[in-house]
Amino acid sequence: MALTIAIIKETSDKEKRVAATPDTVKKLCALGCAVHIETESGSNSHFADSAYKEAGATIISTYEDTVKTADVVLCVQVSDGLDITPLKKGCLLVGLYNPYQSETFIKKCAKNNIIAVSMELVPRISRAQSMDVLSSQSNLAGYKAVLDATEHYNRAMPMMMTAAGSIAPAKVFIMGAGVAGLQAIATARRLGAIVSATDVRPAAKEQVQSLGANFIAVENDEFKEAENAGGYAKEMSKDYQKQQAELVEQTIAKQDIVITTALIPGRPAPKLITEAMVKSMKDGSVIVDMAVEAGGNVDLSKCGKVIQKHGVTIIGHENIASRLSTDASALYAKNLLNFLNLIIKGEVINIDWEDEIIKGVCLTNDGQIIHPNFTTKETQEEKEA
Ligand code: NAI
Repeated sequence: MALTIAIIKETSDKEKRVAATPDTVKKLCALGCAVHIETESGSNSHFADSAYKEAGATIISTYEDTVKTADVVLCVQVSDGLDITPLKKGCLLVGLYNPYQSETFIKKCAKNNIIAVSMELVPRISRAQSMDVLSSQSNLAGYKAVLDATEHYNRAMPMMMTAAGSIAPAKVFIMGAGVAGLQAIATARRLGAIVSATDVRPAAKEQVQSLGANFIAVENDEFKEAENAGGYAKEMSKDYQKQQAELVEQTIAKQDIVITTALIPGRPAPKLITEAMVKSMKDGSVIVDMAVEAGGNVDLSKCGKVIQKHGVTIIGHENIASRLSTDASALYAKNLLNFLNLIIKGEVINIDWEDEIIKGVCLTNDGQIIHPNFTTKETQEEKEA
């Protein structure tokens, strides 16, 4: 019997993305899979049921009927609100788990004999680039964050010289030059701003400069070793944080727009902007805190809110990629398709449990939690040290 892949409608109102597009459905059908789609799954991303049907999917009216015969269930957000009881034993549930905050749900997957596949944990290796959902989504979010800032900035971004007078270019400072930060730099540069950026990883320096932005950082011995084996930033020492805060304090007062993107996997986001720093900014300046869902880089930012404080607008939109849901869904769906190509062989699921990508993303199997980061708290702390 053909493999059945189910795509479900997202449970949260705030999630506008969908885990498959008509294009990826067509490719799944070509692999020999039957594709079941819960009705209206794609409507918030402008993919109609009729387009999925034309691509070869069967549209199903209820969640339970969509998932009950599926070998693989695809979604965007795997949240506590998702009822996994109708899923078949041994079924793969593929999505974004926010795994370090989802201990109870991961245990539930193990108990229900579901293979939990957390796409945030795709390792940062060349072979996995096409499955890297953090990159595909952060790239779009970095772009959108700049547009969100311009919406609240009551001035122009580029320099303009007109008969009525000249307009100075905006000064934009990007904190954290990973995937989102680099795209934010490129976008702000395209709009004509003068851009500078900071990061704690030395590799970021060349990337920032190659995009035409100035690199500003505390470049001491700790900075030289701030990147872990996975390519992520480590949590910096108190001493480094103090020196960094002094540098940020001097820099920030001269900026018009600040976009913060700094994250440390499995830890709260580092606090980079204090209330005093916000106060030092010019009236009408704008801050976008892209790390707001991980606790925020800005002391004052509020998750899901745009607030005004000391004459500065502080934007704390949640789930920024979902604000570009059509493109974000298209890239996310392609990431999932590439992952399925790794495990579907000859019309059956054949998982190589020794594969580095599988070891990275699979949290549970056979009724057990199998991922070392989630088996015990102690193992997790050792891993991250
Ligand atoms: P992320 O989303 O975990 O963090 C964003 C940025 O914040 C990072 O650049 C990080 O260094 C920075 N940061 C953390 N603490 C900071 C602090 N206290 N002050 C200033 N900045 C701080 O990072 P993302 O975007 O997921 O990228 C992580 C790494 O993975 C990068 O080295 C990136 O180039 C690499 N990467 C590799 C890929 C591959 O090889 N397939 C694909 C995508 C990313």
